Amino acid sequence: MAEAEPAPTPAPEPGSGSTPEPRPRRLSPGRTDWSTWPVYERAALGLRNFWYPVAWSEDLREAKPIPVTLLGERVALVRDAGKAYALHDRCPHRGVPLSLGSQQFPGTISCPYHGWTYRLPDGVMCAAITDGPESPITGKVRVRTYPVEERLGLVWVFAGDLDAKPPPVEEDIPEELLGRPLSIGGRIQPGRAGNWRYAAENGFDEGHAKYLHRDSLWAMFRQLPVWNDTKVTRSPDNRWVIRKQQSVHWEDTFPGLGPWSQARWWKVVRTAPTPRAARSVDPVIASLDLPAKASVRLPYILRIAYPRFIHYEWAVPEDADHHRYVQVLVSFTEGLSAQLFRMAYLGYIRWAFHGQFTGQDAWMVDVMNIPPERLYRPDASVIEWRKLVEEQHRETGPAPPRRRARATGGPASPAG
Ligand code: FES
Ligand SMILES: [Fe+2]
Repeated sequence: MAEAEPAPTPAPEPGSGSTPEPRPRRLSPGRTDWSTWPVYERAALGLRNFWYPVAWSEDLREAKPIPVTLLGERVALVRDAGKAYALHDRCPHRGVPLSLGSQQFPGTISCPYHGWTYRLPDGVMCAAITDGPESPITGKVRVRTYPVEERLGLVWVFAGDLDAKPPPVEEDIPEELLGRPLSIGGRIQPGRAGNWRYAAENGFDEGHAKYLHRDSLWAMFRQLPVWNDTKVTRSPDNRWVIRKQQSVHWEDTFPGLGPWSQARWWKVVRTAPTPRAARSVDPVIASLDLPAKASVRLPYILRIAYPRFIHYEWAVPEDADHHRYVQVLVSFTEGLSAQLFRMAYLGYIRWAFHGQFTGQDAWMVDVMNIPPERLYRPDASVIEWRKLVEEQHRETGPAPPRRRARATGGPASPAG
């Protein structure tokens, strides 16, 4: 287990004097002590050349474009004749969002201001309505389009470099979710505060759940351990980092302080180290033979496997300080069982787990401020995640210039 990364000398904390100072901006260029992981360090705006889930398919309706921010770029999702499209959400004429526009001709979207009209498949401006059919600018302007797919009831956008050839979307979806019946519940929360890396690290962070969430509704009747001895390892295909529990300590004594535990008369101890080891396990989940409950892969897909369902989450980067938090709960059921799962999701799980429980995470992701940082033994999980990014990112070409991206606006360079 990694004891700790070499600790940098902490910068003097602003606000240590008598006058409160404004909160420091996060990830300021002077704080470079993530340099052990250079790709990760400069990925403030996300990892490019991956597919990201950004919206529910059922929410993307004809004539109702959806604006999303993705890796520092504004994107308009549009549905036309049943098919989803994605365009850069900025009219080149005067910078008005195309997502505010409407459809005047089949297969196009027209900007609400002067009616410049863009073809959905390739973004070419095919009519400037207010300059007539012979307008000389027609065909000379184009907005960027993005590859879009729909799977699992979600709209996926490939956030890639301009010249990148997207892999099939299935490449970026956990394979157990493809080609079998399943039932899904979930939440998508845009504009969640905090850089996407904070959310990712929180999701896979070994140490926090048993303490931060100890009084959550989701854990109300379960005793959480004091601490675990955890081995961080990889899946056989090397795509996932996995947290394997070696031993679980339900109570312990701290020298000079005394005993501490979360034992309460109304809480039960559940000891299964893997979902498969539980007393009642869904046959599909058992067949996956997951070596542990928690695993993570790029571009940040967290998988938490319970015996009857699996939680997946994405922290889709928006800008340097916000992400779109996508939580999906999957049950490998159909028919009546799927309906019961949906009822349980809507009646309780969505509220207790995808609401209050992960709301505690949102609180931490919002208030944390790194680097600098001082890591401890359970942070081996965080370190291995950062290593995975260094190994499996899809960045191409030289490192982009180190400048901070604007919160909104057009295509922007990743910033450190
Ligand atoms: S700003 Fe879009 S047409 Fe003028
Ligand atoms: Fe958490």
